[in-house]
Parts: sequence; C-alpha cells; structure tokens
Amino acid sequence: MSGRAPSHHVRVCRDLDALSRAAAERVTQVIRRQVRARRTCRIALAGGSTPERLYELLAREPYRSRIPWKSLQVFWTDERCVPRGHPSSNYRLAEDTLLTRVPILRNHIHRIPVEHKDPARVARRYEQALRRVFRLRRGGWPVFDLVLLGLGADGHTASLFPQSPALAETTRLAVATRGPLPHRSRITLTIPVLKRANEVLWLVAGARKAGIAQAMLSNRPRARQLPAGLVLAKSATNLWLVDRAAARCLPHRVTF
Ligand code: 6PG
Repeated sequence: MSGRAPSHHVRVCRDLDALSRAAAERVTQVIRRQVRARRTCRIALAGGSTPERLYELLAREPYRSRIPWKSLQVFWTDERCVPRGHPSSNYRLAEDTLLTRVPILRNHIHRIPVEHKDPARVARRYEQALRRVFRLRRGGWPVFDLVLLGLGADGHTASLFPQSPALAETTRLAVATRGPLPHRSRITLTIPVLKRANEVLWLVAGARKAGIAQAMLSNRPRARQLPAGLVLAKSATNLWLVDRAAARCLPHRVTF
C-alpha cells in the first residue's frame, strides 16, 4: 500500500456516454501502462448498472485493439448470490457486454463462484483465487492495479453497506454480506483490499447520486464513515468520473 496521501481527481462529464468514454480511456491507459511495466495487469470490475456502457465501449474500437487482453486478469469487486445467468449477476453483465467479445484468456477471468449455496464458502473460494493469482504469502494483501467502483445513494460501494459488520473486517480479503432486497445475499471484497488499490476509478451517474457525490467529494465527516468514504480515504489515487446530473451539487464544474 502506498504511503502517500490519497489524491482525488474529479472530472464532470456531460452525460453517461461521455463518462463511459472517459472511463474507457483511463482503463485502457492503466492497463497498457501496467502491462508495459510488469507484463500483467489485475483489475476488479464494478457491479451495478453504471459500468454497462463502459464495458461495451472496451469491447469496441478504438479501445479493443489498444488493450493487451492476454495480459489482463479480471476480478469483481462484488457479486450478488444469484445464478451466473441471472439478469442481476455482475458477472453476467461483464460477460455479455465485454468478456465474450475480447480475446481475454478464460482462466484469467476470476468469477466469484456464487453457485455454492454457502456464501461464507463462496467468499473463502474467492479469497483462495485472489491468493493464488496475486501469489500472496500468509497475511499478504492483493494490490489491484485498478478497481472500478460505483456509488450507492446511501454511500455503499461494492457490496459494503452502511452499518454492515463487513466494514470492520481487517483480515479477510472477501466476505459474505447482506444487502438490500431483492438480492440480499452478496459477496464483496473488503475495505483492506479496496483501500490498497493503486487506483480507484469511481463511476457516478444520475441525479439521485448528487447528494452523496457532494458529501463524498467535500470530505464531510459523516461521509468519511460511510463505506465509500472508508475506501476513499486510503486509496492512493481516486479518479471520480461524475456526470452532470450527479455533479449538480459540486462546485467548480469542469465539463470533460
Ligand atoms: C452492486 C454494486 C454496487 C453498485 C452501486 C451503484 O453489485 O450493486 O457493486 O456497489 O456499484 O449500487 O449501482 P448503479 O451503477 O446501478 O447506480
């Protein structure tokens, strides 16, 4: 984990399409830079609906041919405990919009194995995959090159929800958690993992996110205690891509 203070960069984009294009450019840059430097890049994909357009763009030119897919390892920040083909599956979203359309190696796609009925067992299996791919010694932590995160209006991120016992987790890489209906049972990376990422790319779109975006980016004490604030406070680099609707409460709007 970097010792430097977190740096926050905010770009306000005209709309979700512009946000997605800015995100696709950033994701492409980070992957290319990391693969040039270390011949591999390990990222964690966000769930929810905001990233859909981004994933579609990455599967198309000009991004598709610029990304060294065979050197990329893909994980997820979290998953709902639903079948892999379920419309609410975060895996299915990325599989349908991106992973079936690019030459990524299938054994580099590290799906959260939610088919196991016991969520605690699912979290342990996912943790084993992280330890294997990141070649972790006992007590070691994975350092993702890039983590994509969405933001809930209540300040949740990944499947870390306010007041969740998972927020206090300090040793596990992944845990089973409870979210809102309809998909209460979930698996999520923990705060210690998310906060160690070299870069976090926050994707925030829509008017209903304006209040939480303003709270997060103005460093309100209340916000710092929310799940996203706990991740935000410690990540080395945070790039916020916010559309105009979600940015309407932010000062100094710069449209990107
Ligand atoms: C999930 C996500 C969750 C999501 C936010 C924003 O599995 O639900 O990981 O953290 O990113 O809820 O969701 P939208 O992008 O749909 O607004």
